[in-house]
Amino acid sequence: MQYGYFDDSKQEYVITNPKTPVKWINYIGTLAFGGFVDHTGGALICRQDPALNRITKYISQMSASDFKGETLYLRIKQPHGYKVFSPYFVPTLDPYDLYECHVGLGYTRIVSEFYGIRTEATIFVSMGESRVIRDIKITNVSNAPVEVDAIPVVEYTHPDALKQLTNADWAPQTVVSKVVNEPDGHKVLLQYPFMYRDTKVNYFTSNWPVSSFESDRKKFLGDNEYGTWANPLSLQQAELSNWEAWRGDNIAALMHHLDTLQPGETRRLITQLGQEEGVDRALPRIQYFRDERNVERAFEKLAQFWDGYLSKLQVETPDVNMNRMLNVHNPRQCHTTKNWSRYLSLYQLGYGARGIGFRDSSQDVMGVLAQMPQEAKALIKQLLSVQRRNGSAYHQFNPLTLVASEGDSLEREDLPHYYSDDHLWVILAVCAYLKETGDLAFLDEVIPYYERDKHEQPLESGSVLDHLRRAVEFTRNDVGAHGLPLLGFADWNDTVNLRTGAESLFTANLYGKALLEMMDLSRHRSDPASAEKYAAYHAEMKERVNQCAWDGEWYVRYFDWDGTPLGSHTSDKGQIYINGQSWPVLSGFAEPLRARRALDSLRARLNTRNGIKISTPGFNGFDPKRGGITTYPPGTKENGGIFLHTNPWVMIAETLMGDGDRAFEYYDQINPAARNDRIDEYECEPYVYPQNILGDEHPQFGLARNSWLSGTASWTYQAGTQYILGIRPTFDGLMVDPCIPHAWDGFKVAREFRGVVYHITVENPDHVCQGITSVRVDGKVIKGNALPIFDGGTHQVHVVMGNTPDGEPSG
Ligand code: GLC
Repeated sequence: MQYGYFDDSKQEYVITNPKTPVKWINYIGTLAFGGFVDHTGGALICRQDPALNRITKYISQMSASDFKGETLYLRIKQPHGYKVFSPYFVPTLDPYDLYECHVGLGYTRIVSEFYGIRTEATIFVSMGESRVIRDIKITNVSNAPVEVDAIPVVEYTHPDALKQLTNADWAPQTVVSKVVNEPDGHKVLLQYPFMYRDTKVNYFTSNWPVSSFESDRKKFLGDNEYGTWANPLSLQQAELSNWEAWRGDNIAALMHHLDTLQPGETRRLITQLGQEEGVDRALPRIQYFRDERNVERAFEKLAQFWDGYLSKLQVETPDVNMNRMLNVHNPRQCHTTKNWSRYLSLYQLGYGARGIGFRDSSQDVMGVLAQMPQEAKALIKQLLSVQRRNGSAYHQFNPLTLVASEGDSLEREDLPHYYSDDHLWVILAVCAYLKETGDLAFLDEVIPYYERDKHEQPLESGSVLDHLRRAVEFTRNDVGAHGLPLLGFADWNDTVNLRTGAESLFTANLYGKALLEMMDLSRHRSDPASAEKYAAYHAEMKERVNQCAWDGEWYVRYFDWDGTPLGSHTSDKGQIYINGQSWPVLSGFAEPLRARRALDSLRARLNTRNGIKISTPGFNGFDPKRGGITTYPPGTKENGGIFLHTNPWVMIAETLMGDGDRAFEYYDQINPAARNDRIDEYECEPYVYPQNILGDEHPQFGLARNSWLSGTASWTYQAGTQYILGIRPTFDGLMVDPCIPHAWDGFKVAREFRGVVYHITVENPDHVCQGITSVRVDGKVIKGNALPIFDGGTHQVHVVMGNTPDGEPSG
């Protein structure tokens, strides 16, 4: 069963059946203003923060056929009343002759035909502005004239999203709607909580005269709300009630009489939903966007943005699904995770304190460095500003207030309130930024640590380099009985929460990887003393890990507070963990024999046709001594599920071991685009990576959930572009070091790096996975495989792979 197809020429996915297994969404705008639109037109929109400034009421747990946030009704005048339907299918669910939802780059376009009316609605946020535009073309495709009215509707939430759900008296008592009549028949319907009257006002308006409006849900639905969204009773009246609500469930519905459309005739209705300080400030731009040409310009600007964004890295490999993901959908998802961290999606609902995750965003920025290094840098600076003076970090912060918190660890009073890995990730992020840009001056920028005095002034500041050093020292000094890093509340795996004193092998390896980065950076900064120091730290931890954590066929994953290994053949459940095997390769702690053995054990025990499981066997029963992992049935999420974020680390590990066949096999088996024709098992969007897929211990093996906001986006992009295709930024230039399936004849990459465009052609005449025999740049042979840094321009790079005597690139 298929619900749609990829239209590669338009960089769209086109949904052709509205009854997808779950809602499939698309993001519009950014965290500054935007949110998501589902494939039936519902929308969750907010400005700067979904918890504190949410605009539309979208309750994703309600069933798929329910109205959520926004819709459009059309009605056709008939001899006895009106035929009312939604061209978005939801909420009226009428039979359709055509339905398409085009999931595009920063826009969604719904094209449908019902009862001889064709509607084409393009939904997007005009760049840099706080407004959603719906550009709606309505055409009579029947052979008779029809009289059509169009009634777009928005349902508001209180901006304090949680209060909306928890207080059903306060929220409705505080919200107000007001109409502004303009001389030409246009109306702007305002809505705001009373407390924000002079600071934050929502508005809904259009480019067409409004004959009447409604701002109260009860009146719109009618019959004390025994009228429904599927059949709002007010739409059987000629006009809406023109009620300015002074309380209640505020909506905005605007009645537009489009008059009689002759066969073939089209009307164009453009709506705007936005937020401003007040209507006077909003009016000039509102009027500007009533002009169709200005809307077209804004849409064009959006298209140009995405052209520019994607042009930084384009690939041409023998695999069509890899090309799809690496050229369009994966960098696009990385843009989304960079904006929204794990805050707002259909699954992560943007309530409460979650905000921007320290570890999550540190990894997300690594997926957008080629495309938007400056925005990445700005986010890195925010992250560093919630680091503590002791080098550890707060787990998350609110993007609007920058107030940080310890996250879920606060739920367990008996356990530590820090995560042992958070602060180490930012070392990887900063180093990746430096390699991409060469902007070493960033290391000297001074950023405060989080702690404040009673006047809210920072107690201490330090350079970016100082922040990184403190992160290293924190972990070096925070060790347990084996000299391994203490677990804290958790490491990358949030849900293994062991008693104070437990140690984490993941954090040990992440520390090792961070040290490799610090060594590399120190060398590049001509600071041999620091390079040596970090090399010594690395050797020290490497020795400890190899002394105590090798289990015979793989590495263990934790030591509990009393020294019991977890992730060992001696464990009853959770005998082997994926990250326990991939990360010793990434950290450089595993020597080749152990590395190979560990990856082979992982393959034998954890690999499935839907991806590699996080661990096996799953815990089967709640156990507070193990923590959150035991709240899930076996095969689910962190408890033996296919937790996708971990898979690209195995791909990278396999490339470091030189096995391009396995690296690509692991890449391909989780590629959502490759599942398009068996989507009923998988259920989620085929154009983005989900966070999790149920594992083979679960009866619904293969079912995906929590799509969009996952570290899988950034890491699979890095694995695909930097490790499999091997186009990797280094301090010394762009490196070409592919590790591909031996069957490939080669591939091409166009990559912009530090202002230079490299057109790279790789040939693989000997059908090897790895190894380079020659590199030519603009026709001249170069030594090694780091491409020279030029002043600018476009340069042709020709790489030939083949067997080299020592397996090392020659040149
Ligand atoms: C979620 C969290 C992430 C964590 C992962 C594994 O995706 O956002 O921070 O690493 O779960 O527990």
